[in-house]
Amino acid sequence: MQPVHSIRVGLLGCGHVGSALVDLVRHQRRTVGARLGLDIEITRVAVRSIAKERAVELEAGVLTTDARSVTVDPDIDVVVELIGGIEPARELVLSALAEGKPVVTGNKELLANHGAELYAAAADAGVDLGFEAAVAGGIPLIRPLRESLVGEPVTRVMGIVNGTTNYILSQMTESGVDYASALAEAQSLGYAERDPTADVEGFDAAAKAAVIATIAFGVDVVAGDVYHEGIADITSTDIDFAHRLGYVVKLLAIVERRGEAVAVRVHPTMLPMAHPLASVRDSFNAVFIEGDAVGELMLYGRGAGGPPTASATFGDLLDAARNLVDGTSRAVGSFERAQIVPIDDLESDFYLNVDVTDRPGVLAEVAGVLGAHGVSIGSMEQIGLGERARIIFITHRASERALQATLRDLRQLDSVGQINGVLRVIGDD
Ligand SMILES: NC(=O)c1ccc[n+]([C@@H]2O[C@H](COP(=O)([O-])OP(=O)(O)OC[C@H]3O[C@@H](n4cnc5c(N)ncnc54)[C@H](OP(=O)(O)O)[C@@H]3O)[C@@H](O)[C@H]2O)c1
Repeated sequence: MQPVHSIRVGLLGCGHVGSALVDLVRHQRRTVGARLGLDIEITRVAVRSIAKERAVELEAGVLTTDARSVTVDPDIDVVVELIGGIEPARELVLSALAEGKPVVTGNKELLANHGAELYAAAADAGVDLGFEAAVAGGIPLIRPLRESLVGEPVTRVMGIVNGTTNYILSQMTESGVDYASALAEAQSLGYAERDPTADVEGFDAAAKAAVIATIAFGVDVVAGDVYHEGIADITSTDIDFAHRLGYVVKLLAIVERRGEAVAVRVHPTMLPMAHPLASVRDSFNAVFIEGDAVGELMLYGRGAGGPPTASATFGDLLDAARNLVDGTSRAVGSFERAQIVPIDDLESDFYLNVDVTDRPGVLAEVAGVLGAHGVSIGSMEQIGLGERARIIFITHRASERALQATLRDLRQLDSVGQINGVLRVIGDD
């Protein structure tokens, strides 16, 4: 029998994820004891309201509203932060690290805005800072990037990292409903918040993109570096055309290495149906990693929800506990500020859906505007709508700058009624 080391955990926050973690730690206590020689016990839990009903039962005296008393408690070995948001989470994590306690957090917002400060504080204190749960919930992504792929020249990571928007787009694609109905359904199922802004406008995915880029490329990328667009303007027409042309529409977080710089963005994207990410439906997440040596690999699973997120948190907690027992730690890294490629300099193929007056010469006029900005047409389809016609273009590779200039000039043409949809297209490359 190996000796059993007792690890006392201070949990900050006992909501969806925190209560699922309490449950999981209890459920796995014997197994973890037998397998790892660790006796993990959550001995203190900080919450906002003691009176609130919880999904798990906690012994009297475990709950407190004074989170700081947990981070400085000499009887606590590891702190798990599951409060969310920036303050007081940041100050509490720094306090625990300053006390020499390893910290595990699932807080993407905190890491995407103050990651470098926290990684440095953990390194100074010589303790672990785990954050597997912060990106793509239950999917092991951060550890593969930090460990298995640490020597890999990663070139690009593309992720479906927001389950709410993936659910909405899947419903629009499969049931033919419009955006508003799909959002209402996501809200009724608890997949979307009453105020869905953070998800549907791409803020949540942008924070995750910043964390992924930092860890994949070893440079400090913050949420504000990430260009982002949401899905609120996607119409059923765009989804239908994408389908007819052999694509699906997904909200992708895309981080790429471009020489010494990195490109980081979140936007709805038309993906070829044959791409592995195209089959990721419902509220599932997946991350597609490309590297010079490893080629392509994909990680798939539940990106949110109490139990999946608690699973990722528990993995980090056990890692931190093992390192604590061994008297060791692994620094995340010390990262220089990233050089970010401006969105205008990025290139892709584009889908354009334009309504025009149906008369001779209009097509040549529109094609002329594209040509004037060096935007060449890959394929085109025209549909008659009585007095008007709808033209769908898929362009060849063009810069965002050229595309924006093209749209500006198209809007000046009398023959152009409305530009219905513009989407970036990921080719088969
Ligand atoms: N939910 C998910 O699916 C998911 C997925 C991935 C990552 N995450 C991340 O995990 C973290 C937790 O998410 P969650 O969904 O569990 O949040 P949640 O359900 O809103 O729970 C937050 C908890 O923090 C407590 N709290 C708030 N302010 C506090 C304070 N000042 N001092 C002490 N406790 C305080 C709340 O107390 P009361 O209970 O008393 O109000 C509550 O127990 C977030 O960073 C989130 O981004 C969540």
